[in-house]
Amino acid sequence: MEPGTDSILHMIRNRSSIRTFSTEPVPKETVEELRELVSREDRGPFGNVCRFGLLDPTIHPFVDLGSLSSYGVIKNPYGYLVGAVQKADRSLVDFGYLFQRVLLEATKRGLGTCWLGGTFRPEKVASYFPLRAGEMIPAVSPFGIPAEKRSIIDGFLRWGASSKLRKPWGELFYHASGNPLQEGEVPLLQDALEAVRLAPSAMNRQPWRVAIEGNRAHFYLDTRGEKKSPVRYAELDLGIALYHFEAVCREQGNEGRWGFDPPHLTFAPPEWEYITTWL
Ligand SMILES: Cc1cc2nc3c(=O)[nH]c(=O)nc-3n(C[C@H](O)[C@H](O)[C@H](O)COP(=O)(O)O)c2cc1C
Repeated sequence: MEPGTDSILHMIRNRSSIRTFSTEPVPKETVEELRELVSREDRGPFGNVCRFGLLDPTIHPFVDLGSLSSYGVIKNPYGYLVGAVQKADRSLVDFGYLFQRVLLEATKRGLGTCWLGGTFRPEKVASYFPLRAGEMIPAVSPFGIPAEKRSIIDGFLRWGASSKLRKPWGELFYHASGNPLQEGEVPLLQDALEAVRLAPSAMNRQPWRVAIEGNRAHFYLDTRGEKKSPVRYAELDLGIALYHFEAVCREQGNEGRWGFDPPHLTFAPPEWEYITTWL
């Protein structure tokens, strides 16, 4: 059955990173809805609290939005969605999970967004969104009405990251035996896994791997090719994927929870880092 246009899967399928915005303002009601959404502090699957904020020109007329992103990557943002988390074990996974929930709410309202983990200026953002002791800003996202045409830099970045491409099912998902899992083989999790596959990731690296064992889904990070950086983007990527997976499961009435239950997979290379299991 095809999901409706307001389903989470539809949103996930139709989302792409938007870096060029129209100069048209975002309707006031939409901004207010977003402000309401980001005003709650929340915990991710690993129990870390994240805070989010909204920088928009009506409330922050003094914000120089152009100065928040670097290299002229972002054109005409209406505002920015920002957030912070304590530096703690797996707190980046929680940030990825919760921030993606916010960004999909923006997508649902017709807005464009783009995760920025590298091409933004954390110290500038912190001057408008003051940090508490021990916190960091792992990523931000511009938001606004998407422009009809992408800018040249935007097009170039998309091409550089092969943004539309995703790895095939058999490279991301496996049976516990080690056999690659093909589309349609696990009907119950078909859409939830497709939502993982379509998730955005830093440089479109797609580091998530999932092994299916009965009705359990074990999530791993493939750390091969991971570069050292102050923020571990792969953990953000994994949090995003966890949110996509869970949101589609819940929408389809497929209840479960995240837990720690690492399986013994004889086929998994040592570079696969176990993160969590959907039980
Ligand atoms: C954690 C994370 C960090 C990212 N950082 C940047 C960034 O600094 N600059 C940028 O232009 N895009 C950034 N992106 C966007 C990715 O390049 C993009 O999601 C990926 O190429 C897939 O394209 P899509 O989002 O259009 O599906 C980031 C994405 C994620 C998930």
